[in-house]
Amino acid sequence: MMNINRRGIREVFDEYVGGYNVSDPKIRLKKEHTYRVADNAERIANSLIMKDERERDCPVDVDQAWVLGMLHDIGRFEQIKRYNTFIDSKSIDHAGFGADILFKDRLIERFLPDISKAEEELFDFVIRNHSEYRLPENINDIYRTYCNILRDADKIDIFKVNCEVPLEDIYNVPIQEMRQSKVSEEVKECFREHKAVLRGVKKTPADNIVGHICLFFELVYPESYKIAKEQGFVNEMLDFETDDPETAAWFEYMKKELEDFPQTVI
Ligand SMILES: [Fe+2]
Repeated sequence: MMNINRRGIREVFDEYVGGYNVSDPKIRLKKEHTYRVADNAERIANSLIMKDERERDCPVDVDQAWVLGMLHDIGRFEQIKRYNTFIDSKSIDHAGFGADILFKDRLIERFLPDISKAEEELFDFVIRNHSEYRLPENINDIYRTYCNILRDADKIDIFKVNCEVPLEDIYNVPIQEMRQSKVSEEVKECFREHKAVLRGVKKTPADNIVGHICLFFELVYPESYKIAKEQGFVNEMLDFETDDPETAAWFEYMKKELEDFPQTVI
């Protein structure tokens, strides 16, 4: 197995990001997001190892989960430089772009000089698919496990970003418009069905908030729910300030619905 030297990897990462405009808040946001996703991935992987000691069914490597977190959004920096936006539909699929930078342009050699062919294939797949709506069905358990760890780790931090960056900046709309926004029926339906909202379905600013709240339904691991609940950002998102009575009633409904979700895993 490849040697994962965390200090070295952090240094290469900082050096790589240093090549971009670090005074741009978007670059800083993605840099900090990366570190947090790596930490989340490590914690989730650790919870699976502990489970493994009892059940011996999950050969997860914590360092690999961590390094996947460090590399997953590497495409963001070049995306911001070239297109000045995070919105994939207006620029480029950042996940595939990042995987190309790592494995076609060979940036990976700076991070993990002794990575094997098989490990590369796994990393390429996990990074390329980290923001897909659904994973392909026919993948093996180990691919699925690393995908799920990274996707959970990323979603947990999306809740945080939603609370810490002003909504007007994330969604590019004036606060007034945000407060008068309605929630579309199709988006409400996704929430009622407890599933994530496809990008194209979201039409209003409030749809984006509900869409992000719906990611909570898609977390896979008990540890992910634990981290998300500890951080409390989903609750903060549910306190969305609105002047529209219909939207206010909808957020109250969501609050009640999420109070005891998930019932089974914790
Ligand atoms: Fe991403």
